[in-house]
Amino acid sequence: IKCATGKAHGKIILMGEHAVVYGEPSIALPFPAVDMVATICEKEGPLTVDCSYYNGIASEMPEVLESLRTAILTALDALQKKSDNLSITIESSIPAERGMGSSAAVSVALTRALFRYFDAELTDERLLTLVNIAEKIAHGNPSGLDAAMTSGDDPLYFIKGKPFEKFPLNISACMIVGDTGITGQTREAVASIAQKLKGEQKDLYLNAIKTLGRLTGQAKCAIEENNPALLGKLMNEAHAELTFLDVSSKKLDQLVTAARSANALGAKLTGGGRGGCMIALAATQAEAKKVEQALQQAGAVRTWIYQMGGKKDAK
Ligand code: MEV
Repeated sequence: IKCATGKAHGKIILMGEHAVVYGEPSIALPFPAVDMVATICEKEGPLTVDCSYYNGIASEMPEVLESLRTAILTALDALQKKSDNLSITIESSIPAERGMGSSAAVSVALTRALFRYFDAELTDERLLTLVNIAEKIAHGNPSGLDAAMTSGDDPLYFIKGKPFEKFPLNISACMIVGDTGITGQTREAVASIAQKLKGEQKDLYLNAIKTLGRLTGQAKCAIEENNPALLGKLMNEAHAELTFLDVSSKKLDQLVTAARSANALGAKLTGGGRGGCMIALAATQAEAKKVEQALQQAGAVRTWIYQMGGKKDAK
């Protein structure tokens, strides 16, 4: 039988989440320690989906899988193909809704697989356009960062709507990622900031967004100057601004505090927040191990250590 596959990987935002929606810069990296594969096969009857959350007919998928449904329909629509006589299988090690880009990754993997299955050409530009249509439904007002990171292979200094600027993270440090195990709420978090920016205290919140942008700019310099201590300090400041914007959570704060108590150079939430993952910075692998242990003791359900400077060291 005819089959085709498509792949995508996780992503980590180092600096600039949420502010990136408002045109501020961000720094993010692909995170191939977790990934996703979509397989499309010929199969008689209505379209079926088999993933860890659902196994059955696509049209009967529950509401929570809306972004998956949208990703399938958007790609099929672009291909001008019907959904009949196909099966979709999704295998993923990207934790869902933890700020690692799972919703964008599922769209990337599916779109790649469907285009391959129908032998249609898929440029990067077209892929990103289609994924961002699905992302709009998944979380309202995407910056495009998640689509770029889960489909691309390079860290980026990313500004919404601007050509991609590759940005190698050549800094002598390790990043530790900790998963709270709690589902993040990117859509709600993005919407709540939008609300704040219309409210009475909008100047204060706009100021926080601008500050986050400035911190990202400074982080870019810290990386270029190979100054991990400064980058860590900027991460701490970014976490404070994100907390002010009310996108952190108790568990995220606990993990951030645990990392700092274990001598991390800095720590912050990553991604949409309100659950999901946090990141910390350490100068050496040995220091990173200590931070990792502290995160596990504080209740992180999964942790990863990532050696910056191009070499990845997934646990
Ligand atoms: C979500 O991973 C990142 C946010 O900045 C939203 C976006 O960029 O679309 C919170």
